[in-house]
Amino acid sequence: MNIPVIEGFSKLSRRQKIEMLEDFTQIDENLQEALDSWLPPEQSGQETFEGFIENYLTNYHLPMGIVPNMVINGKNYMVPLVTEESSVVAAASRAAKFWAQHGGFQVKITGTEKKGQIHFTWDGDKNRLINDFASLRQKMLKATEAITQNMNARGGGITAVELLDKTSAIPNYFQVDVSFETADAMGANFINSCLETMARELKNSTKELTQQGDIEIIMSILSNHTPGSLAECTVECDIEQLSTLSGDLSPQSFARKFELANRIAVTDVSRAVTHNKGIYNGVDALILATGNDWRAVEACGHAYASAGGSYRALTETTISERRFRHTLRIPMAPGTVGGLTKAHPLARLALRILGNPGAKELMKIAAATGMASNFSAITSLITTGIQKGHMKMHLPNILKQLQASEPEAESVSSYFSDKEISYAAVQSFLTRLRIGNEK
Ligand code: MEV
Repeated sequence: MNIPVIEGFSKLSRRQKIEMLEDFTQIDENLQEALDSWLPPEQSGQETFEGFIENYLTNYHLPMGIVPNMVINGKNYMVPLVTEESSVVAAASRAAKFWAQHGGFQVKITGTEKKGQIHFTWDGDKNRLINDFASLRQKMLKATEAITQNMNARGGGITAVELLDKTSAIPNYFQVDVSFETADAMGANFINSCLETMARELKNSTKELTQQGDIEIIMSILSNHTPGSLAECTVECDIEQLSTLSGDLSPQSFARKFELANRIAVTDVSRAVTHNKGIYNGVDALILATGNDWRAVEACGHAYASAGGSYRALTETTISERRFRHTLRIPMAPGTVGGLTKAHPLARLALRILGNPGAKELMKIAAATGMASNFSAITSLITTGIQKGHMKMHLPNILKQLQASEPEAESVSSYFSDKEISYAAVQSFLTRLRIGNEK
């Protein structure tokens, strides 16, 4: 089959691109009008967003909400979240309020190390490369001086350079494994620039030094695996204090079921993935709100969750006769300067709402938000079940899909205030209501 390739699409104006899209899709709708209606009203706003990606059409809106009462290490925050999932903000808010009254979230950062690697092959004498590495390291570091100057002044820079022998995995394969501190920046561009400069120097210097083997640089890139950049968040209270959450259960049964629910997520992969997804409901929503890279945060967290050889929960629950304690350990490497954090007007505003935190403080807030989401999810799961709260929050979406009028929506809300909500049940109620009104 010969599929015609579209050439030069990115060079077309936005209008021309949309016309081409209309031709291509044959969608029965005025695409131009539909896409224009979501553009920012000001030209400067459009230019800002247009600058972020190629082939820009319009802006895709997601709701931004706020979680009040997030008390983290004694400081009270209002945390902005961006998410499409209806129950995320409500769930986190519920847990935040509870913990604000019971000591808040205690978070510590145990490290902020980031990594990157130069992946290369070397077909010469392995021992020669290993012996020469100390002087290669010096040369590589010297080559990065112009790039690292500013970062060093901000307290960051390159902290270690190691040669790793990977030949047991792939013949002739080695890595230069580089550790970085990047202060308040996520540091992707800084790290990649350092690595590419070091790789060029490595190639040249190895040739000069050893003259008896060939080095091929395969690639130089930061790693999103940052287990050395880790936040640890704990909530803790007397078991008796859980009584306001435990519903029909005694606080002791609640704590016991909670601990068991967590242990299931530690041992069973099917449950662990969903459990951790519930943590990332909060973490991603904050990472997105602050213009950070949520794919990096997720990928790293899932690798960390698998570090023991099987995928497990990122949380740990312990209960004694009197005390309940729940801890989340989560790696991430967000930034609060550079990238979209300042370029995106709402990311900038989200950071201002948080009091313009540094990267470490943002890690603490993200870990606490993940904890709030997870704590709330487990609380619902072991008491009322998840659907009750979830469907209540989802009801406006159902009403919209069923094109309910305002009076119809009011009737639905009042009818379902003490009943189980489902799409089918609401649809059937509305049908009955509409038939009744026609008579
Ligand atoms: C839904 O988005 C998240 C939960 O499934 C998390 C969990 O099961 O722990 C409720």
